[in-house]
Amino acid sequence: MPKKIRLGILGGGGDSLIGVLHRVAAYINDNYEIVGAVFSPLHRDSLDFAEQIDIPLHRIYKDFETLIEKELQLPEDERIQVCSVQTPNFLHYPMAKKLLDNGFHVICEKPMTMTYEEAKSLQASHKASGKVFALTHTYTGYPMVRQMRQIIKAGQLGKIHKIDARYYQGWINPIIHDEEKRAAVWRLDPTKAGISSCMGDIGVHAFNLLEFTTGLKVKSLLCDFNYMYKDNVMDVDGTVLVRMDDHVKGVIRASQVATGEENGLAIRIYGEKGGFVWEQEKPNFLYFFEEGKPLQVYKPGHPYNTKLSLDGTKLPPGHPEGIFDSMANIYWGAAKAIRGEAYDDGEFPTMEDGVRGMNFIESTVHSHKQGNVWIDMD
Ligand SMILES: NC(=O)c1ccc[n+]([C@@H]2O[C@H](COP(=O)([O-])OP(=O)(O)OC[C@H]3O[C@@H](n4cnc5c(N)ncnc54)[C@H](O)[C@@H]3O)[C@@H](O)[C@H]2O)c1
Repeated sequence: MPKKIRLGILGGGGDSLIGVLHRVAAYINDNYEIVGAVFSPLHRDSLDFAEQIDIPLHRIYKDFETLIEKELQLPEDERIQVCSVQTPNFLHYPMAKKLLDNGFHVICEKPMTMTYEEAKSLQASHKASGKVFALTHTYTGYPMVRQMRQIIKAGQLGKIHKIDARYYQGWINPIIHDEEKRAAVWRLDPTKAGISSCMGDIGVHAFNLLEFTTGLKVKSLLCDFNYMYKDNVMDVDGTVLVRMDDHVKGVIRASQVATGEENGLAIRIYGEKGGFVWEQEKPNFLYFFEEGKPLQVYKPGHPYNTKLSLDGTKLPPGHPEGIFDSMANIYWGAAKAIRGEAYDDGEFPTMEDGVRGMNFIESTVHSHKQGNVWIDMD
């Protein structure tokens, strides 16, 4: 039995949205043990939370610089091996860079950095470090998303014609119309979130899902944002026309003001032989359309699924796989890489996905600001 991987956590405190997803995901496949953390910018809050979830207090540090310094003083077989960065966006780059530069593996939340420039700098640090870097585009871990990737790769759709990804949320609606409320949200503060709110927070997931499932790259795009108010500098809605390889065209739509929508991420991919539809709120159903044939529905756990899909399914068919399982699959893939075991390149999003994501976000902002013009991605 391999030893548990010693995991450190930055951010993801008791007050956070995403922390519980990472903690549960890390434990689901029995690969990790949390041994140290900085859960909050306030040391007292970090300690209180660590006590609440029973993590040894002597490895709860006041900030990430101290965590790195003190952990490096420990013998290698006690030291944190990988740190998971779950803070607001502006801290991803300084934290991930210092971790990689000091020989730690990194699991990092998206968007990977604040700018494309930072993303390329982080890529250079990653290359020099030889360490594992996994980016938590959570939705790539769903068995039916993995299934789509593998069967599109095997040619089941034939030549791809058209793609349509949308990510609709409505949570900013009660905030955006009130000046005071919108000033209190970090996702609308460019010093904390970066140059984009909606496209940076959720549009980038839709973009990643398109490239992950089709294996194609977006080559150029044209974006139209809505900021809703003149004094609001952060997009809360956007529509992006995209051109991919091989004359494939489509659209990415993202919104935080789609009133009443919860976590409406959905993808449609059409090719010459058929089409796929997958919706995040019903993740265990992958719909396959073929001309002149009845609708087919793929579901997790059946032997007809691909190895990558089955490897990410823990129970027999009929036991729903959810968001915790999806994130757990990414942690599992990262664990294999950290242990030097073989893994499929669909098991976790990488540094390259993070660089592509930042290139996408900046291109959408440039396109909109230059008057909704076509921009080539690198
Ligand atoms: N993969 C996904 O599907 C997904 C979903 C939601 C959020 N996210 C990403 O996760 C990140 C966090 O989002 P969230 O919604 O959980 O934010 P949040 O504001 O709810 O939580 C942020 C946490 O970071 C902590 N923090 C802030 N500054 C810190 C510091 N200097 N040191 C240590 N901890 C610090 C806060 O105390 C809090 O616990 C963002 O980058 C976001 O884009 C990803």
